[in-house]
Amino acid sequence: MNELAIGLNEILKGTAAFELLSDYGKRMFFPVNGIVAQSGEAAQLAKRYNATVGMAVSNRTPIEHSAVKAMLPGLTPAETVSYAPSPGVLALRNKWKEEIYRKNPGLNGVELSLPLVVPGLTGGISQIGDFFLEKGKKIVIPNMYWENYDLIFTEKNEADVVLFEFFSENGGLNVDGLLKCMEESAVDGKVYVILNFPNNPTGYSPSCEEVAKVKAGFKALAQKGLKILAIVDDAYFGLFYEEETYKQSIFAELASLDENILAVKVDGPTKEHFVWGFRVGFVTFGGAGLSDKQYDAIAKKVAGGLRGVFSNSSMPAQNILLKALNSEGYEAERASYDALLKERYHKVKEVIAKRTTGKALTPQPFNSGYFMNFVVDGSAEELRKKLLQDYGIGTICLQEKYLRVAFSSVDVENIEDLYNCIFEAADKLFD
Ligand SMILES: Cc1ncc(COP(=O)(O)O)c(C=O)c1O
Repeated sequence: MNELAIGLNEILKGTAAFELLSDYGKRMFFPVNGIVAQSGEAAQLAKRYNATVGMAVSNRTPIEHSAVKAMLPGLTPAETVSYAPSPGVLALRNKWKEEIYRKNPGLNGVELSLPLVVPGLTGGISQIGDFFLEKGKKIVIPNMYWENYDLIFTEKNEADVVLFEFFSENGGLNVDGLLKCMEESAVDGKVYVILNFPNNPTGYSPSCEEVAKVKAGFKALAQKGLKILAIVDDAYFGLFYEEETYKQSIFAELASLDENILAVKVDGPTKEHFVWGFRVGFVTFGGAGLSDKQYDAIAKKVAGGLRGVFSNSSMPAQNILLKALNSEGYEAERASYDALLKERYHKVKEVIAKRTTGKALTPQPFNSGYFMNFVVDGSAEELRKKLLQDYGIGTICLQEKYLRVAFSSVDVENIEDLYNCIFEAADKLFD
């Protein structure tokens, strides 16, 4: 093993974070004397000529094609065409950390790592998969989940996915099922779990009461000696439409709960800030008792992972996001788009409540996010095809029995027509 990896592991020894790492995670390090580090040193000290980095530079400024410049007038060449640091643009990392605290008052006084920039939440979940999972390990996932987890955890990491029923019989979060599944899935005293609220595909987020139960359950498992990695996929964070819904990230409850728990928040602007194609996301660690030095050691490992897989994330996207976050009136406009989705959500609720048709479709509980999901009493794939072919309407069929509708993508004035078509198509097929 590389000396630098051994050094980082020494810093982490005795923590749940270290115990939970995969072999790959243990081997990873950031090459302190590599090209990136030497370039960084030269950027400070090479006053005469800086012949380090693999970019074309003129007058100490990266060359930027005038056509590119014309399209990005608010950014300097250093902010657009330059390489970004592997862990991300420092000012953006600091700003995002501030934002995490602002949006999650429960984290007040809780020490966290500095967020690392990843290429979208997918890049973040994938990195965390590599750092903690591997053949022989199990990861607990709700049976209603984003399908990309299959490619990441099952196919890439070769971990065994263990599903628990997402909804309880009374239509809330099945906290007992989650905790039971976690306990039963422990291998060598280690448990890996991913939580995603608002949930894709159902659009469900838990109540404060449910979150309190999750928290108490995690604490009890940790006190039994289980080491827990809780991956929190916050892709749709903030899009909560009902009073009783818990309005923070569940990361806020887990990040300092117990020394046996390492929580990892994977979030980003993709859905929250409506910049789907930016390919920027963040990974932030929180674990009770972790020192700054230990957070830094984990971050260095992940930075090494990023260097080895992506090298770095999009520089223009990071700088656009940073400037947007710091710009006057930005948050108010962003919130107005949240309100737009909330309006669509209420329209969906209204249309479903007054329907007299489409009885083969049972909506699953939903109160947040971009989607709602129907359980189809019949073939969801047949329904999807009929909607596409006869009505020109695109929806998603999942697991053969669910039809996911992204109401986020349809203007409010068209919601009623959309759902009436769905109900009519279902009646034609299944009545
Ligand atoms: C639950 C969930 N997590 C993660 C992602 C990935 O986000 P990104 O586009 O930033 O990679 C998605 C995207 O659809 C998602 O639905």
